[in-house]
Amino acid sequence: MSDLYRFGVSLEKPLIEAFDRHIQAQHYKTRSEALRDLIREELIRKKWTEGGSVAGSVVMTYDHHKRELVNLLIDIQHDFQDIIISTQHVHLDHHHCLEIIAVRGKASDVEKLATALKVQVGVKHLSFSITSTGEGKD
Ligand code: NI
Repeated sequence: MSDLYRFGVSLEKPLIEAFDRHIQAQHYKTRSEALRDLIREELIRKKWTEGGSVAGSVVMTYDHHKRELVNLLIDIQHDFQDIIISTQHVHLDHHHCLEIIAVRGKASDVEKLATALKVQVGVKHLSFSITSTGEGKD
């Protein structure tokens, strides 16, 4: 682990009590670990709003019987091949496919890919989540 820095934080009693209840419910062992995660989350959110580099996944369910949908989804993914690391395809049932697309790149490009896929007729649901690329000091 990199060097640890300690700093003091002053909080009003109701705020620290609410924080302790919150982190207990999430099974954090220490306030420090909970605070580290909060800081990381905020930095990821900042990268997202500023168009920084993120890693993540786009998850969607679609009906592969819809005419031309499969080809269209593949065309769109080829347009974004510079940010797509891999795609996993699962045949959910007779009609439905689940696709999990791992991505790494500019947050704004991930959002463009997600939107381009989501608006296609036959795509039942799509969601995406982002995390840190692990690079840099944060
Ligand atoms: Ni399938």
